[in-house]
Amino acid sequence: MSFYHRLMREIRESILRDDFLSYYETQRLELTRTDQDNPHRPPKKARTVQHSRLGDYEIHKSPHGFFSIRQISSGEVMHSVNAPSDEANKLYVEQSCLPARLLEQKTLADQLVIWDVGLGAASNAMAAIYCFEKCCVEEGENTLRPLRLVSFEWDLDPLALAAKHASRFPHLRHRAPFKILQDGRWQHESSLLQWELLQGNFRGLIDSAPVPDLIFYDPFSAKTNDALWTGEIFARLFERCRTKSAELYTYSASTAVRVALLSAGFFVAAGVGTGPKSDTTIAFTRANGAKDHPLSPRLLGQEWLMRWRRSDAKFPTALANKARANFENLIESHRQFTDDSRKLC
Ligand SMILES: C[S@@+](CC[C@H](N)C(=O)[O-])C[C@H]1O[C@@H](n2cnc3c(N)ncnc32)[C@H](O)[C@@H]1O
Repeated sequence: MSFYHRLMREIRESILRDDFLSYYETQRLELTRTDQDNPHRPPKKARTVQHSRLGDYEIHKSPHGFFSIRQISSGEVMHSVNAPSDEANKLYVEQSCLPARLLEQKTLADQLVIWDVGLGAASNAMAAIYCFEKCCVEEGENTLRPLRLVSFEWDLDPLALAAKHASRFPHLRHRAPFKILQDGRWQHESSLLQWELLQGNFRGLIDSAPVPDLIFYDPFSAKTNDALWTGEIFARLFERCRTKSAELYTYSASTAVRVALLSAGFFVAAGVGTGPKSDTTIAFTRANGAKDHPLSPRLLGQEWLMRWRRSDAKFPTALANKARANFENLIESHRQFTDDSRKLC
């Protein structure tokens, strides 16, 4: 800093003396000579390799110019179809109508609980936090319902890597993700928003976390991480949420994922499209979930059922042949397809 102060002072003085050009020529040579022991252009390759990877993760630059985190072993990119914050907002925050939920007239004890499954580089979690802060400024904190954000993650490398390069990840220019990395929790100054990290395997943490109202379900795809997309895991989620009308939002629109959700008891609707995807998925624990939702999402109907009957992904891969008839019956007799659709939509 002293060096730059002195340099600027000298430049200003040379301009006032009207001999900046000669000052520039002398200094350029002098500064290059004195810097020879500390080359100002370190070898580029070594620098990239050293800083843009951590564990199984690396920084990925999309052809559209935004940065994401990629898992090296699977090649999967977190939020690959759009800028991470745009997708987080569109798919999770806007679709769950978070601002309206925060303004619902409830008692102070009736906090809104969000599960952020797969914290990753925290795009979804930070989108929820920015939404809360915007509501706080625009509506006043006295009008807001308390929010408890619970993130699940077993590997903090993606967040640590992105935080090290926060200039490439605008959503991390905030104190909260750094506190999460350091202490595993952060609280908004109003005390109305608590963010906590449950570190470990999500499968083992389901029963210890507070029952959610909204679930932002964002693990890697079933191809990379099939353990988090099975009927068995969705059945455990459904059971955990039994006491509430809960909603699960996910980017996947695959038949296999939707049928796994239906087999667990969820009522399943098509969610908004994002990037090249024409739709995504919302799952409700209650039959009237879609009907009561402010955006009235479309529950899958007979058309989807017909496609499922013809699908290669009709049955979970691990399902024994002799269990197929029961499974088929479970889906065909799901209330979503048998009840009068006007009652549910
Ligand atoms: C697609 S990334 C999540 C992206 C993140 N939601 C975001 O907004 O940046 C999936 C994350 O889930 C985590 N994950 C996968 N399986 C898990 C498990 N069984 N328990 C906890 N975390 C898991 C991975 O480590 C990875 O960070």
